[in-house]
Amino acid sequence: MKDKRFEFETVIKDTVNLCNMDKEKKAIMNLVLDGKKILLFGRRNTGKTSLVESFVIPQWLKKNKSGLYAQVDLYGVRSLTHISQRIALGFSEGFSRAFRAKSAFQSLIKLIASLRPRMTLDNDGISRIELSTSEGKPPHFKDIFQKINEIHLNDIPALIVMDEFQDIAGIEEAEGLLRDSLQRLAATIPVIILGSKKHLLSKVFSVPKAPLYNWGESIEITPIEYLEYTTFMKERGLNIDLDVSTYLQDCMKRIPEPINIVCYNLLKKAGVKKISLKMVDGNINEIVQNRRGRPQEFLSTLTYSQARFLEVLGKHGVIKKITAKQVQREARLTSPGILKIVAHFEDMGVIYKGDMGYEIADPFLELHLRRYGI
Ligand SMILES: Nc1ncnc2c1ncn2[C@@H]1O[C@H](COP(=O)(O)OP(=O)(O)OP(=O)(O)O)[C@@H](O)[C@H]1O
Ligand SMILES: [Mg+2]
Repeated sequence: MKDKRFEFETVIKDTVNLCNMDKEKKAIMNLVLDGKKILLFGRRNTGKTSLVESFVIPQWLKKNKSGLYAQVDLYGVRSLTHISQRIALGFSEGFSRAFRAKSAFQSLIKLIASLRPRMTLDNDGISRIELSTSEGKPPHFKDIFQKINEIHLNDIPALIVMDEFQDIAGIEEAEGLLRDSLQRLAATIPVIILGSKKHLLSKVFSVPKAPLYNWGESIEITPIEYLEYTTFMKERGLNIDLDVSTYLQDCMKRIPEPINIVCYNLLKKAGVKKISLKMVDGNINEIVQNRRGRPQEFLSTLTYSQARFLEVLGKHGVIKKITAKQVQREARLTSPGILKIVAHFEDMGVIYKGDMGYEIADPFLELHLRRYGI
């Protein structure tokens, strides 16, 4: 039997530890096997990367044994060169894997010759491909994408995954150039774009004048059903009823990672004992206390106005109208001042705008602010 655990602070590699997501799995697989372009989005820590790594890629490889997949992480990119570097890295790893699989070795090596790949051998004799010139510069991503087209048309199926895509927003020219590359890709190459900041993604994808307007099909990760998560908890040995589990999930804003952290700690403490509401509260308090270094460190990087605004937001939980007179009064900020801070925090993923209004994204940060202030 596979090891059933509550995982956190990691990408889940085995679907056994991924709670549900059946709807998303089905939707995404149908599109991927059909060579479609997909935009997978959902707030932070809701399992986007885990879903792709533990399920989508392995399933795709099963059907495309000699296939080549490239996974590009655009987290924190700041310039066009930076983007090219990350794309080159993602594809280097993809080529290395494909070479190791050997089935496509001969045709691949010819095809990518113009990218000047350098082959190195690890200690254990495993070959690695690097796509960088002797000066260490990566090839331009335009050339890499073009190459993928050629490879794909030479009967080596390709899959492209681009994680944290929203981080290209605001980099001059990046959106246009990437759009160009993406649009030139063969219609049958599946591409999955992942992102967590809806407002930034929509800058790139949804507004009519945005460069990637109408690109691909969107799939949004929605909260897992209370009952599904309760079953997941029980399968991992937690003795918990639906009402207590629902309370726990709500305290953690229904975000899987903090839910798993609380469950992991509860299981360690309570063993087979029935979990009560009081135990949930006690446990969350303890976690907030034990982890207080992290928010403290984060708060120390903020200006006083930013920190004070977060404190006010934390106290309210959710605020519908962020520039309301009362908020201005409590935060001692003007309406433009608030809007500037909100835009900054939203870009950083610190605050999140949901259907009910604005809130602090991380439940532990919110609880920390309520308990310890700034
Ligand atoms: N369906 C799920 N079942 C169980 N745990 C989950 C699930 N989805 C997310 N998690 C939890 O979230 C953590 C982070 O997952 P992952 O990195 O895949 O999320 P993400 O959506 O890609 O986050 P980010 O937006 O930060 O990139 C995991 O370690 C796990 O604790
Ligand atoms: Mg991710």
